[in-house]
Amino acid sequence: MKMINSIIKNNICILTIEREKALNAMNYETLHELNDALKTSIKDESIRAIIITGSGEKSFIAGADIKIMQNLDKTKAYEFSKLGQNLTNTIENSSKLVIAAVNGFALGGGCEISLACHLRFASENAKFSQPEVKLGLIPGWGGTQRLPKIVGKSFALEMILSGEMIDSKKALSLGLVNGIFSNETLLNEVLLYTDKILKNGPKALESSLLCIQKSINSQQEEGMETEAKLFAKSFQSKETNEGITAFIEKRTPKFD
Ligand code: CAA
Repeated sequence: MKMINSIIKNNICILTIEREKALNAMNYETLHELNDALKTSIKDESIRAIIITGSGEKSFIAGADIKIMQNLDKTKAYEFSKLGQNLTNTIENSSKLVIAAVNGFALGGGCEISLACHLRFASENAKFSQPEVKLGLIPGWGGTQRLPKIVGKSFALEMILSGEMIDSKKALSLGLVNGIFSNETLLNEVLLYTDKILKNGPKALESSLLCIQKSINSQQEEGMETEAKLFAKSFQSKETNEGITAFIEKRTPKFD
């Protein structure tokens, strides 16, 4: 089944996650397809920028698919973390501008995918959170590394330790998003903004992305490895099992 819809408008590729019924939560297929679609667009000389968004009016990406996480052991959880990190690294290291048009929930892995994008624009109804602790987990797709760099250590700790959602206005005040548009106009406004950026020197744009990324990479690789190991380790604990089972059974988890 095709999980990613790709359309090109004026040299800009729009990649839409098509799992509206699950609020665009990312399962294996969706992760692989998005990574492949990104790599294809980055190689395609006719494409100059990429926008990632979610289908429907409610959600950008509601995180990793919790239903598949129920069956992960430590080894599989490490691989799952690396798969998501690999996708977010493809986005962050892209030589072409990648922008998130966050049209609703950006939770857990969904927030992490947006964090890897070079710029983020949100709809008025967008909501951001790293709710993993509510599942007895930690972010596993780069959130522990990228969030503090974007909003600072203090707000990153607040978001990751509380697991609470913030709205788009709060996200703007923290510098988590670059701008807010109405729900109806978000995608068009992001296309117009991207068009404006693409009028600048193409080589200068590419070099700017490369230089800024270079300033972060070496330190981040080590942090990503620690994140994947600790994410995986939690899958041996009763706490994670209780958190995930409680979500699936639609009840509040009981942590000791
Ligand atoms: N995984 C799997 N299914 C999900 C999902 C997810 N992350 N988020 C939502 N869904 C599914 C729901 O199970 C539901 O499916 P059914 O109709 O089959 O029951 C459907 O999408 C609609 O969701 P709700 O009925 O819950 O919709 P709502 O409007 O009442 O609530 C919500 C919306 C607040 C986003 C709620 O769905 C929610 O809390 N989702 C989980 C968000 C989350 O915890 N994300 C983090 C995942 S862990 C992670 O991402 C780890 C990492 O770093 C890699």
